[in-house]
Amino acid sequence: MSTAESTGNPGLRRSDIDLSNLDSFVDGPPWDDFEYLRHHAPVHWNPEPPPNHGFWSLTRHADVVAVDRDDRTFSSERGAVSLEELDPEQLEIRKSLIDTDGLRHAALRRLLQRDFTPRSLSGYETFLRGLTATTLDAALSRSEFDFVKEVSADFPIRVLARLLGVPDEDADTLISWGNRMFGNTDPDYTDVLADSPESEPYRNLPFRSPAALEAYEYGRRLAAERRGGKGTDLVSKLVNNTPHDGVPLSQRDYDNYFLLLMVAGNETTRHSISHAMLALTTYKDQLHLLHERPELIGVAVEEFLRWATPIYQFRRTAMRDVELHGQTIRDGDKVVMWFAAANRDEAVFEDPYRFDVTRTPNEHVTFGRGGPHFCLGAWLARLELRVMFEELLARVADVELTGAVRHVRSNFINGIKSMPVRVSLA
Ligand code: HEM
Repeated sequence: MSTAESTGNPGLRRSDIDLSNLDSFVDGPPWDDFEYLRHHAPVHWNPEPPPNHGFWSLTRHADVVAVDRDDRTFSSERGAVSLEELDPEQLEIRKSLIDTDGLRHAALRRLLQRDFTPRSLSGYETFLRGLTATTLDAALSRSEFDFVKEVSADFPIRVLARLLGVPDEDADTLISWGNRMFGNTDPDYTDVLADSPESEPYRNLPFRSPAALEAYEYGRRLAAERRGGKGTDLVSKLVNNTPHDGVPLSQRDYDNYFLLLMVAGNETTRHSISHAMLALTTYKDQLHLLHERPELIGVAVEEFLRWATPIYQFRRTAMRDVELHGQTIRDGDKVVMWFAAANRDEAVFEDPYRFDVTRTPNEHVTFGRGGPHFCLGAWLARLELRVMFEELLARVADVELTGAVRHVRSNFINGIKSMPVRVSLA
């Protein structure tokens, strides 16, 4: 076991870094902690309160990428989206695509992979533009509003509703499930905090959230309606196709796949839009540059994603002893890839704290990088961001904050809960 003190340089001691402490994240990402670790303790042991046993933090881009790619050594099968240490029963019940390795993972992923290619998605652009226009026209009818509530929150879930073939009027319910699950450590989002004893009855549910039960039920109703039909929505594909390994989806496989699709692309895209807008309120030169040179938008979207890093981290579990930067990661230890820290690594990004919409190359790890779990919805998220900001920039000349930005209390999701703005129309 090591701590920041064991760097061997007494001048660089810092013993107070604790990335399991959610309160370190209430004012936004703990950039100083990430920076310190990346420089002085790139493989840092972070103790945790019982019943957990602690985890290794990786903060350098190269290490995050190496671990993300090596699923034989660093497995997702003991849980990828939570630091919680799950017992075999919990693992079995909660297991989804994202917590599966090897051939079964590839087979499950292939069920829907083609639906998320740029080619398949290009058919959605007109729909997305229409949806964006409706969202923006409603929001911009006033000059002051909460950007999260009026613009970012609805848009991604309405896109997913379309992909899943879900009626528009259910969008609010889906949003609330997403909030309750991803925001499972924030009292504003859930009355059953995952880090409290009240969540114990829900220990077998994803995110320890009762919302998962409601989402399962909803997904099952959709499945029953679509089974045996000819629909081309994602639910129909899940219920009417067999993975290429020949093993059909069990009820549980389906439940968790449905739930993953619902939550994975919702909060993440929402927070990316909010973070990008926040950056444009702060770095006005970049806003003006995008007005002058709208053709930069494709490049800018990559910077929006790097800047935002809406998922702070994913976790792996070491399958054998590994030496890294002088530390021994033991078989069974949790290893955390801090995507947010890696996205500010000066070894890869010149002047990493500069928001630069012309940054190329931009090898961010916001969607993972080169590993088997690379975000299935990456192209969809890129398309949503591009369309949203093309439409926004065409309508909005200037934007400023009119109050405090509130962040989600979480060390998993780097989210913005509210962001009051004043806009001047173009
Ligand atoms: C800006 C928005 C998004 C971000 C930041 C994001 C981030 C991520 C990350 C970090 C991973 C894991 C990568 C790894 O372990 O290597 C992931 C996986 C995944 N994402 Fe996204 N995501 C976003 C949008 C979406 C959307 C729109 C969908 C569509 C439904 C989606 C569906 C998934 C799925 C299904 C996986 C699991 C893939 C697998 O295990 O093979 N994501 N995402």
